[in-house]
Amino acid sequence: MEVLLDTRRQRKLLILYLFIGTVAAQCSKPEAGENMVLTEESLLKNDFPESSEVTLECSNGYEKASGSGIMNCIDNKWTEPDLNCKKKDCGFPKAEPHMEFNISQGTLFGSVVTVTCEEGYQISGSSYKHCLPRGWFGKASCNIVTCSKPTEVENGEHSWKSDIKPEYQQTIHFTCKAGYTMLGNQTIQCTKTGKYDSEPPQCIGHRIRSSEETNTTPSTSKKEQNIETLNVNKDKGHAAVIISVVVVTIVLCLVAFFLNKFLMRRKGSYDTGEDLKPELLQFQSL
Ligand SMILES: *[C@@H]1O[C@H](CO)[C@@H](O)[C@H](O)[C@H]1NC(C)=O
Repeated sequence: MEVLLDTRRQRKLLILYLFIGTVAAQCSKPEAGENMVLTEESLLKNDFPESSEVTLECSNGYEKASGSGIMNCIDNKWTEPDLNCKKKDCGFPKAEPHMEFNISQGTLFGSVVTVTCEEGYQISGSSYKHCLPRGWFGKASCNIVTCSKPTEVENGEHSWKSDIKPEYQQTIHFTCKAGYTMLGNQTIQCTKTGKYDSEPPQCIGHRIRSSEETNTTPSTSKKEQNIETLNVNKDKGHAAVIISVVVVTIVLCLVAFFLNKFLMRRKGSYDTGEDLKPELLQFQSL
């Protein structure tokens, strides 16, 4: 019931208010133009009697180019404001080490600048800066690219003794222990991608000591292969020698056997030759 009464009272007050409003000379609530707003003080006003004034100001991101922004209520109408607003200029972004900006869009309110880093540097943070009412928004920094620390080389050494990672364009030198030959590049360099320009070299032990030692270009695996085939061939040679020795031995044995038999048969014929015996006996008697 009380609620009903309240609404009824409110409606009465509203009608009364409208009646007075139409009677008294009054301006309607002022409207701000493009890129402008009413000042806070003007916004708090509720009624705008004849000859009252409100003030406009440039909205966020804009600044006054000319004029005052004052509007007057004359004959129930607001005078045209003389205010002109223009976009704020964020200006050239503050230079930072190894950072580059692309300002093709300009530096006015609302524009976006692309942030890049010099070669060999990588961006961390935002790759854009946005011109906002309070200035450039978007933080970034450019850090030098690093490569992973070089791995230890078997039977060799590298020149990187530091605990920190090698940086862009820094080089690492390799050496091999005495008696080992380097296969690959002696020096590797850290590139802009964070990788080395070539793989670290290898230190290869010498299987054969020959004039080939100094010549590192042919791959050792090929060399080893050659040695292996050579060994295989040698083994084959050995087998052939053994076989021929065995064959020759067998042949010699057979020859000796038959020769022996043949000689024995001839000897036997002499032995049984009874006709020769008397002659021999004759000689013996002489
Ligand atoms: C040695 O370095 C050069 C130049 O960086 C590269 O072209 C070549 O491939 C490297 N050699 C090896 C075996 O990695």
